[in-house]
Amino acid sequence: MNQHETPLFTGLKKHRDRNPVQFHIPGHKGGRGMDVEFRSFIGDNALSIDLINIQPLDDLHHPQGMIKEAQELAAEAFGADYTFFSVQGTSGAIMTMIMSVCQPGDKIIVPRNVHKSVTTAIIFSGAKPVFIHPELDDRFGISHGITTEAVKKACEAHPDAKGLLVINPTYFGVSADLKGIVDLAHSFDIPVLVDEAHGVHIHFHERLPMSAMQAGADMASTSVHKLGGSLTQSSVLNMKEGLVSHERVQAVLSMLHTTSTSYILLASLDAARRHLAINGHELMENAIQLADQAREKLNQIPAIFCPGADILSPSAAIDYDPTKLIISVKNLGMTGYDVEVWLRENYSIEVELSDLYNILCIITPGDSMQEIDTLVQALHHLTDLCRTQEEVIPASVKVPDIPVLALSPREAFYSTTETVPLKEAAGRISAEFVMVYPPGIPIFIPGEIITADNIDYIFENMEAGLPVQGPIDDTLETIQVIREQKAFK
Ligand SMILES: Cc1ncc(COP(=O)(O)O)c(C=O)c1O
Repeated sequence: MNQHETPLFTGLKKHRDRNPVQFHIPGHKGGRGMDVEFRSFIGDNALSIDLINIQPLDDLHHPQGMIKEAQELAAEAFGADYTFFSVQGTSGAIMTMIMSVCQPGDKIIVPRNVHKSVTTAIIFSGAKPVFIHPELDDRFGISHGITTEAVKKACEAHPDAKGLLVINPTYFGVSADLKGIVDLAHSFDIPVLVDEAHGVHIHFHERLPMSAMQAGADMASTSVHKLGGSLTQSSVLNMKEGLVSHERVQAVLSMLHTTSTSYILLASLDAARRHLAINGHELMENAIQLADQAREKLNQIPAIFCPGADILSPSAAIDYDPTKLIISVKNLGMTGYDVEVWLRENYSIEVELSDLYNILCIITPGDSMQEIDTLVQALHHLTDLCRTQEEVIPASVKVPDIPVLALSPREAFYSTTETVPLKEAAGRISAEFVMVYPPGIPIFIPGEIITADNIDYIFENMEAGLPVQGPIDDTLETIQVIREQKAFK
């Protein structure tokens, strides 16, 4: 296979060059039938390949031509047996992974701080979650991955689980002992599904954490669009065959996908794969060097701390991605949210995320020293303004015990609900998610029994000014619970 080739992107351009008379959708027909301002803004090149699955262009639902070839090249680049393109984001790929292995009533082992696509798939499939608490890092108020020890306990207690889902690396770029976790789960014949939303690039440089495919995981949902240079919404599902069948994955992926797949998004995946396969190492080398320099400059600013290897711990943080700049601002006496707003209003800087204690900035091949200097200058300025302030926000993260699951999340989702005051909800079954950021771990999910401790924990967090999120009633005075059936007299 030749990684310099782009069968899908090139095939589309050849099709366009033949200038076919189009009696098919999309009705804008190369832009001629659309709003003039939008057409001129987007450009005729992009519009000429905004096509759908007409016969010469293959079909994502049954790939046999140029999409199949592009996916095969991607599989080689990512070290997978099979790669499936997704234009439903990584969310669609994650749902595919879970629904490929779980039937109604099956158990799946998942960290408590999963992305909403995981819970959605659990609701769709009727699976029962077995939760593992992620490791918490009190210094930064963030959660890391799961420990191998916790996975061992979960596998021993639930050897009949149909899958183990791991988030690797985390949003903050921290990686657990993925190889150890995979080997352990495989010793129970449990397939490992990796949420690799924040790790498309890690496969291409030895200083970055081990990728899911390198660790021997069965499937990984990988956001090429986030850090790999393809267009937003385009992702891949990589898999190694053994415990999971690729036919099953293809069938589920197809069920969850639009039939009008965007060829602009698909072509961008083909091109991003070429760029990563050929130039990925060099691109990552440059991004890592830039991030290292940025970290050094940031750590010279009083009251700012940007960890490198300091983030590591022996259990669930064994490697990290240096291109993620976790910037702890708690010693400024400001929250990360306030720093985000200040940077926006004063320097037109947009960060990736903020929480109570940190902002997160990502460095990619799209950056240069100029952007780093702007960030460093802005944070110097902010620190000068904060000098008079002595207050330090102490980072504290604690999580309540995981409540008992009385109904599967699917049963809870389809049950009749009623609204009750939160203060009086102990003993009732929640129909809603409630979580607190940081660290983004649910206090309860649909189907779990609300306890008095959970309610106290929610009020404690609200009194401390922490954002408790999830319920329809965002004042949290009331909560939706499952309606209880009254006995007939
Ligand atoms: C950890 C994690 N998993 C999955 C996703 C979903 O990815 P996508 O937005 O491509 O659907 C995200 C999105 O931010 C994420 O942060």
